[in-house]
Amino acid sequence: MPLWFPQGSPNLPPPKPPPYTPRMTTAVDQVAEVEREAREALEGAADEAALEAWRTRVLGRSGTLTGILRGLGGLPAEERREVGQAANLAKQALEAALEARQDALRAAAREAATRDAIDVTLPGRPVRRGRLHPVTRTLQEITRIFERMGFQAVEGPEVELDEYNFERLRIPEHHPARDMWDTFWVDEEVDGRQPLLLRTHTSPMQIRFMEQHEPPIRIVVPGRCYRYEATDATHEWMLQQVELLAVDEGLSMADLKGTLQEFARQMFGPQRRVMMRNSYFPFVEPGVELAVDCYACPGNDPTCSVCRGAGWVEIMGAGMVHPEILEAAGYDSDRYTGFAAGMGVERIAMPRYGVEDIRLFYQNDLRFLRQF
Ligand code: PHE
Repeated sequence: MPLWFPQGSPNLPPPKPPPYTPRMTTAVDQVAEVEREAREALEGAADEAALEAWRTRVLGRSGTLTGILRGLGGLPAEERREVGQAANLAKQALEAALEARQDALRAAAREAATRDAIDVTLPGRPVRRGRLHPVTRTLQEITRIFERMGFQAVEGPEVELDEYNFERLRIPEHHPARDMWDTFWVDEEVDGRQPLLLRTHTSPMQIRFMEQHEPPIRIVVPGRCYRYEATDATHEWMLQQVELLAVDEGLSMADLKGTLQEFARQMFGPQRRVMMRNSYFPFVEPGVELAVDCYACPGNDPTCSVCRGAGWVEIMGAGMVHPEILEAAGYDSDRYTGFAAGMGVERIAMPRYGVEDIRLFYQNDLRFLRQF
């Protein structure tokens, strides 16, 4: 009987490890290994093509798992059931994993596609609407007011002959009246006619129209004019004018005054005061000018850049058509009389829009232009 020691006998040899029995790799282990390997490969499949290759290699007709299922018939009945169950479970699990991987890849692709595309939820960029320049608008308004009174709108050339711009308006060469219009001259001849210039006013159209028409005449002539001018708050070297001409039997100064007064009322409203005072232009007799009360100062500020303390701003010249001009056109000046006027469009746009410097109109500064 061996002795009993509470701590065990120091003399006893250490207990032997159990004998090593090498584990047999069974068909069930093989299934597990195939599944493990397949799952790992599936994680590395990055696109649809890789997924399809994976499916063929694992679940396809000659796939690894399919091979095991095919081989079941050759196993003993006991093992066949066990392996068959394991293989079928592995097949279902791998099919589900494939589907999950497919869904994940598709979702990622969709996400990537929308990330680089246009964000349709952003508000659109507004398209700025253009609008007409305040001078163009004023020009159209002036023309329309006179059209409503029965005047017909016509246009004439901007490059004009000296003959129409000056001579036939009774402004001969060396006449001091030419000093009123410093001029841009053009060196070329056109149709052998010379000298040419950029018209300084729209009045040449009076002559051109009378030359080709018989009274009664009522025309309104909008257009650009050019003057060799030192620019300041009320003078530009390019300006727009509207010319007015009426020739008929029995026209008098009262018709001129009434027409211009009605124009001013429609253009500026009843609150703006207008004044007519006498003036001189070689092609009218008598000549007048029409002024509106100053819109930039109370009317007595000597430093005012618009009226210089005069209180009035000239917006047009006018008068009764000179009889010599009617005669030159072939009209009987005993029978016919006429009135004419020529107005500066910018000078009219200025009080209308409260613009105190004419030069702002053509500087094309959008900060200025967007206000209208
Ligand atoms: N043509 C003149 C100017 O430019 C204005 C005017 C026109 C005066 C018609 C009288 C009659 O100043």
